[in-house]
Amino acid sequence: MAGIRNIVILTGAGVSAESGIDTFRSEGGLWEQHRVEDVATPEAFARDPDLVLRFYDMRRAAIQTKQPNAAHLALAKLDREWKGDLLIVTQNVDDLHERAGAKRVLHMHGEHLSVWCTACDARSRWTGPLIDRPACPECGKTALRPDIVWFGETPYEMDAIYAALEQADLFVSIGTSGAVYPAAGLVREARQAGIATLELNLEPSQGTRWFDEARHGPATEVVPAWVEEVLLR
Ligand code: OAD
Repeated sequence: MAGIRNIVILTGAGVSAESGIDTFRSEGGLWEQHRVEDVATPEAFARDPDLVLRFYDMRRAAIQTKQPNAAHLALAKLDREWKGDLLIVTQNVDDLHERAGAKRVLHMHGEHLSVWCTACDARSRWTGPLIDRPACPECGKTALRPDIVWFGETPYEMDAIYAALEQADLFVSIGTSGAVYPAAGLVREARQAGIATLELNLEPSQGTRWFDEARHGPATEVVPAWVEEVLLR
């Protein structure tokens, strides 16, 4: 850990699992009840908007009943106390990092509590349903969609993510299966740039061989332990 100043952390569904939010690829996980193509693609939205809006309305309502867990809280503490650069890049569309108090967070796959107006391009904070086709708070048109990056769409803020990685000394991946690109490829970018890489996950991810070090266990245990270690170094 010596000589580490700038850290990029990638988080995935595993960090929110112990808050009661389904992961995507586990048995009984989110995609087991729905085919991805039926709910998480622009084509699905064009074909059956009611199905897609209902699905995301349900998820948006559900995440608001959940609470941050010890892993979110530990990362928020690291964000507060870490003097160097730090960026938490999350694939998660919940707001549990923020509710735990983290500030340096970037949502590469969008956010449940945001809507995107396809008429005026504005993003607005949104906590209620979309099924009744509410008007855009900015332009008044009825053209709101979930502000979620669907399959086939480009993740947000990739330039900022690569820029942070260029300056980083350590890349840490937490609670992600390493199945979805470009997020899954960040570890290889980090390796090529000569940055130290660490995986914290319940089990070895698909990309586990790319990491210098891997620690396996529940996020609420391995993340707080790692954060204490880094802050004490
Ligand atoms: P996945 O469901 O693919 O992977 C979750 C990972 O978390 C798995 O490797 C689990 O082993 C691990 N895990 C489960 N419980 C855990 C726990 N308590 N502690 C630590 N790890 C745990 O979720 P993601 O990798 O986040 O994209 O999925 C990536 C993207 O796929 C999502 O952002 C979503 C989906 O398509 C969009 O919606 C655009």
